[in-house]
Amino acid sequence: MKSDELLAAARAARENAYAPYSKFRVGCALEAESGRVYTGCNVENASFGMTICAERVALTSAVTAGERAFRAMVLVSDAPGPVSPCGACRQVLSEFAPQLEITAVADSGARTTWTLDALLPGSFHLPGRDA
Ligand code: THU
Repeated sequence: MKSDELLAAARAARENAYAPYSKFRVGCALEAESGRVYTGCNVENASFGMTICAERVALTSAVTAGERAFRAMVLVSDAPGPVSPCGACRQVLSEFAPQLEITAVADSGARTTWTLDALLPGSFHLPGRDA
């Protein structure tokens, strides 16, 4: 899928963000190796620590659909500049796609791309399992 289509999907997902506490909306589009795209938004909770980030919503939805390998992620938020995934999401994404290409795009059009490896060097994997 073209990156502008992934961006449109991430922005559409952000529209559904449930963020009454932080008022900070995040949207994510995750492209699987199959070519299918899965989206997520942040889902907050009155018990703040139960909040789920957009990235983990997209990933768990994709895994539920049977996906196990991923190519690219586009991330949008209400921040003025590109935002990178939180540490918890980095670890969870790393289970499936240590080389994932992650692009964060601000509404201004400013963008930054990283590989997950660069964002989380030395991520945890159980001994005996390939990273
Ligand atoms: N959030 C995400 O959805 N993804 C991240 O990588 C960082 C933070 C959400 C969680 C919470 O709803 C809001 O942004 C403020 O932290």
